[in-house]
Amino acid sequence: MSPTSSRGMWSSRAGFILAAAGSAVGLGNIWGFPTQVGQGGGATFVVIYLACIFLICAPIMAGEIAIGRRTGLSPVGAFSALAPGRRWWLLGALGVLAGVGILSFYSVIAGWAVAYVWFTATGAVSGSPDDIGRFFAEFTGSGLISAFLAILVIGITAGVLLGGVRAGIERVTKLLMPLLALLLVALAVRAVTLPGAGEGLAYYLRPDLSRLADVGVFTSALGQAFFSLSLGMGCILTYGSYLSRQDGIAASALWIVALDTSIALLAGFIIFPVGFSIAGFDPTASGPGLIFTVLPRLFAEMPGGHLFGGAFFLLLSVAALTSTISLLEVPVSHCVDALGWTREKAVAAVAGAISVLAIPSALGNGAVGVFTSLPGLGMGFLDLMVTVWNEVALPVGGLLTAIFVGRIWGVDRALEELRAEGRWMPVPELWSFLLRWVCPAAIAMILVAALAALF
Ligand code: TRP
Repeated sequence: MSPTSSRGMWSSRAGFILAAAGSAVGLGNIWGFPTQVGQGGGATFVVIYLACIFLICAPIMAGEIAIGRRTGLSPVGAFSALAPGRRWWLLGALGVLAGVGILSFYSVIAGWAVAYVWFTATGAVSGSPDDIGRFFAEFTGSGLISAFLAILVIGITAGVLLGGVRAGIERVTKLLMPLLALLLVALAVRAVTLPGAGEGLAYYLRPDLSRLADVGVFTSALGQAFFSLSLGMGCILTYGSYLSRQDGIAASALWIVALDTSIALLAGFIIFPVGFSIAGFDPTASGPGLIFTVLPRLFAEMPGGHLFGGAFFLLLSVAALTSTISLLEVPVSHCVDALGWTREKAVAAVAGAISVLAIPSALGNGAVGVFTSLPGLGMGFLDLMVTVWNEVALPVGGLLTAIFVGRIWGVDRALEELRAEGRWMPVPELWSFLLRWVCPAAIAMILVAALAALF
């Protein structure tokens, strides 16, 4: 189905769940989650993350899908349709910008994953943990290759969007997501039986309550929860606009949340046991290279490791592609709907702009000094993008979406949509309580505390 001719529909509820889960499951689960757990102090982060997922994000997800399905429009149009003459369309515009910003750094990491298919399958990355670490630093430090790969990823994503192969996404996801899950289970089984795995499991599963005093852990967990679920920028809203009224929203939302969260948790059962089996491993110091420096270690320990390694990074690249497609779709469909551009023009212009914005993130890992450590900020350009989009724009988007559904459009009207055709909607009172009170209060508190901590 492609929105070029007429707005299509997913082939079934399963098709929608798969496409939305394909959007949700990606680098955020397998690269982002373990990295953030590592930096955020292990199990404490995990607990806060799960609270954010179930108490804040799940209710907002149902709300986003409901807005999309009710209006059948992309975000800017959807918010103006439900609140005509008001400025809520700006919330859609924030989502359009977030799509551009997130894809600009996401494509860099996805490019690394693509390169590691080759590096692991051919055995180019091997040797001691130090060798593996040095290999990563040299590879990402040569910024031109990273930039080339990022633009390649953006190009492939653009090609898929132009081909209008939404039906293709359904098919690819249906086959590859279960494969990815199976491979992760196999790797986790190997990982937890490594010598030294126990220490990693303890780090992952035993909360260190002193970390609760660090507001940074809350902002990262909240940002990561939105990012992992593709929430807070109208992406799920757009996918929801292709959902049929016969299909239940609440059940779909819960499926997406459950699938996404299980894949993220599973990734942690691989990274931490393997990481702690390496002498001198410091999870807090590892940054965006964590999976690229730790996992090759696991593949070296496994019979058929090249094969497992190649397959892992291949499936990760595909998972990333189903996510980049959903990210690019938001700004593209906006340019088509609101500016009246052709789909070709929109794809070319948006993909071109994102490619330019990707360059500083690609060069900011050692290649170019200013981008590696931005003057006065103490972080690289890629980190800055993660902070601005994941930790600020998505939670703000989520906060405003909760207020919009809870108080502007109104829970009663939203509930009508959630229960359309008599579909299952469990404990509607709890949903509306979370959406009207818990989501806005919790997000606002975390954002304000983070702001206060800056000064
Ligand atoms: N959720 C995806 C991941 O975990 C990334 C992603 C796709 C995304 N679409 C999004 C993040 C929209 C935020 C908003 O890899």
